Amino acid sequence: MNVDTGVTARLASLREQLHHHNYLYHVLDSPEISDEQYDALMTELRDLEGEHPELVTPDSPSQRVGGSTLTGFDTARHARPMLSLDSSARPEDLRAFDTRLRRAVAGIGGSPDAIAYSLEPKIDGLSAELVYEGGLLARAVTRGDGVVGEVITANVRTIRSVPIRLRSSLRPVPAHLAVRGEIYLPIQDFDEVNEALINEGKQPFANPRNAAAGSVRQIDPKNTARWPLTIYCYDVLDGDAAFATQSELLGALADWGFPVNQLNAAATDVDGVLAYFAGIELRRDDLAYEVDGVVVKLEDIAQRERLGATAHHPRWAYAIKFVPRQEVTQVLKIIAGVGRTGVVTPVALMRPVNIGGVTVSRANLHNIEDIERKDIREGDTVRVERAGDVIPQVVERVETGDDRGAPFVMPSECPSCGTPLVRRGPYTLCPNSFGCPGQLVGRLTYYGSRGGLDIEGLGEKTVSQLVERDLVKRFPDLYDLRAEQLVGLDGFAERSAEKLAAAIDASRTPTLPRFLTALGVPEVGPAVARTLARRFGTFERIRAASVEELDAVDGIGEVMAGHIHAFFNEPHTARVLDDLLDGRVSPLPEETVPLAGEQPFAGLTFVFTGAMAGFTREAAEALVQALGAKASGSVSKKTSYVVAGERAGSKLAKAQDLGVTVLDESGFLALLAEHGAAL
Ligand code: IVH
Repeated sequence: MNVDTGVTARLASLREQLHHHNYLYHVLDSPEISDEQYDALMTELRDLEGEHPELVTPDSPSQRVGGSTLTGFDTARHARPMLSLDSSARPEDLRAFDTRLRRAVAGIGGSPDAIAYSLEPKIDGLSAELVYEGGLLARAVTRGDGVVGEVITANVRTIRSVPIRLRSSLRPVPAHLAVRGEIYLPIQDFDEVNEALINEGKQPFANPRNAAAGSVRQIDPKNTARWPLTIYCYDVLDGDAAFATQSELLGALADWGFPVNQLNAAATDVDGVLAYFAGIELRRDDLAYEVDGVVVKLEDIAQRERLGATAHHPRWAYAIKFVPRQEVTQVLKIIAGVGRTGVVTPVALMRPVNIGGVTVSRANLHNIEDIERKDIREGDTVRVERAGDVIPQVVERVETGDDRGAPFVMPSECPSCGTPLVRRGPYTLCPNSFGCPGQLVGRLTYYGSRGGLDIEGLGEKTVSQLVERDLVKRFPDLYDLRAEQLVGLDGFAERSAEKLAAAIDASRTPTLPRFLTALGVPEVGPAVARTLARRFGTFERIRAASVEELDAVDGIGEVMAGHIHAFFNEPHTARVLDDLLDGRVSPLPEETVPLAGEQPFAGLTFVFTGAMAGFTREAAEALVQALGAKASGSVSKKTSYVVAGERAGSKLAKAQDLGVTVLDESGFLALLAEHGAAL
């Protein structure tokens, strides 16, 4: 057989398998192979592609960027890096930019007194790249990390203002074109979307930007289509088209049918820029979309190319931002509130004040260190800021109150459940994660959310009602609910009550990593959850692990180990977990884990080298460690076994030199089987 045909066929088969398992895992959430098996396929693919780089295809699963795939979207590299902008809210910084730029223009032989700026409202949305081939929308990609983003073509197709076919009546259509624009959700629609989400029992979005981001990243384009997203385009990243100026570029985009902001303008100096900026700020509240400033770009595109960019920003553009909206008012009282993650936060109750159209009477004081630094007490007059739609913040003390209270002291017990509070850095925490009523709604909501066990219908609004009506007093009560009890909750009739009851029922056998994530163990996100699951195998063993055992896991440091251990050993939490596991939830252990408890490899040291079909090196090391052995990176006389996979190198040679026992993969498997490790 021709070797190349063999390699090509194997590559095709590996890609097919990986695509399939990706889909099962990320989209359907029902994997058919273990993580180790998946990793082994990926290792083989990467190795083969490494030997035959000419055979790498852009759609190869190896071309995904680590981390981004959790969402189920493919990733793609941008035509050119999508940079962000240097920015400031201070006019003097804009002047400094102007001076720098004129000097740089002179430096490349241009005329510093003859420059012009394009001025564009800076929309607070989501940057995306739209790629057109032969005039047709071929691909849409989120900005991602600026170099690689997520492919969201199907979702972007549902945005009515995005042309699917470029208009050709005014200007010839280039064969290839990559355009950058800002996808956003108009403010009015944002309010409506949030209302609808609340009615469906789902979590509302914090601001229009998050709503837009959430919407374009829906797995099912039908969900994106429900929300009236739109776009303004402002840049050409790549393509068979050349422009002399930004205005010409914007004109061309409009000719091809892209929405281009009508408020875009031009100026020749800083005063002109600031006048435009002031005008936009005046109209800010009347605009249909969130604007957070003005983007200033050098008009001359040839000069831009020569000026280039720093690692993050083009040297030829700048964003001048609006100063956040602030007002001054008086602090009447400072209280401590428990948040949904157990963090106890000082909150200022204030004389109500109107900030940019919203009446504000509570503001966040963050944590005890922050209050102490700002020295804010009851009776003081403070400056309060409302930035975007986040909770208002106390920025600083403006005036000391006449009848100034004593410095605020954090309570020593949780205001909601009375448990003694613990200090973690600047934060104060109620450790009663699962027994504290102040945390119950938040924890349950997270448990049922998409990032948790994805219990359809168990949104915040529903959880709040369950808790208010005493249907759920403790976390495990969730699993004792009957459909009849749900009928009559807001938005629930018989059918929907049955559906929610069924969804709760279906969540009784989550995979171990998902369950860990859903519980909201401090610092345990999906990646750490998987590591823990691989290392310990069962929930019980993770719960029982000592700080030292947790600390010994790759990727878990001492501090994190301490937090995880404290979480599981808090007495109320432990009781809630006992009840949860007592016939209510049975997390499914990972496939490739040793049987409970035994340490048949205690005292042995393993070294892994080369590629194995069934394990990544990390997985193999975790496995022998779980069985009591040490895994080492280098071979010595003390090494018990060297396990050599394909293309093993110098470590194999050294083992042979030293007379250390060498196993191949099947020998390793046999050794595992001999010691009763379940695979
Ligand atoms: S230009 C090299 N123009 O603001 C070009 N950005 O940090 C860089 N934005 O990530 C971007 N409206 O998401 C540009 N008219 C506009 C914009 C705009 C909104 C966003 C974009 C970018 C961020 C700047």
